[in-house]
Amino acid sequence: MTHNTLIVSNWKMNFNFIQAKNLVTNLKKIKYNKLKLSNVICPQFLLLPTLNEVLHKSDLILGAQDLHFDINGAYTGDTSIELIKDYNCKYSIVGHSERRALHNESNIMIKKKVKLCLDNFIIPILCVGESIEQRKKNTYKDFILKQLTECIQKIKCPELVIAYEPIWSIGTGIIPKVEDIIEVSELIFSFLKKEKIDKFQILYGGSVNSSNFREINSIDKINGALIGGASLKIDEMKKILTSC
Ligand code: 13P
Repeated sequence: MTHNTLIVSNWKMNFNFIQAKNLVTNLKKIKYNKLKLSNVICPQFLLLPTLNEVLHKSDLILGAQDLHFDINGAYTGDTSIELIKDYNCKYSIVGHSERRALHNESNIMIKKKVKLCLDNFIIPILCVGESIEQRKKNTYKDFILKQLTECIQKIKCPELVIAYEPIWSIGTGIIPKVEDIIEVSELIFSFLKKEKIDKFQILYGGSVNSSNFREINSIDKINGALIGGASLKIDEMKKILTSC
């Protein structure tokens, strides 16, 4: 397990060119501990070429929000790993709950994406997390273990990131209790150890902001955050990055 903090901005479908350029220009000016922190930005695909230029020679790292599981082919509207690599993405989010829900992505499909990333030296950020019903019915642990098993079991994983994002916490302002994040991060940790994966980071995602980041990031098995809404605001990002 790596102890560096990984901050991943998931901009989702936000920002035009000017807004995106403005934010990264300001992000570049923030002084934070670069030895301890990796700062990854995942913009919309069409912003990648421009941001790749703007980020040249900076410490900010580009990531993709998704990718197709095949190398190329008849997949109208999808984006291939080849182009993601061309624009220097080091990471790709895979299996985000919005992709699972709105684009019917299955664990089988997501496993193919994880494999493709690893074969191409892109570090996958695999998202897992339960719905509010599963949390209430107390079936969330089985559900998360099923997601992990079906998405990564028996894959040779030199390095990967798991983001625990409870669906009920995304964009709602509701954060699980610290002990609940601890419980799931330990579940993920032991799963990865059992799979003999040595190099990994576990992130928490869901309504992370500058007021709750520090407490979440201080959890033993948590190494950073996957941030949606707050990642669009420079003041929030400044507070988060400088608190590591
Ligand atoms: P919010 O931070 O807006 O809740 O989004 C979390 C998320 O989905 C990040 O991938």
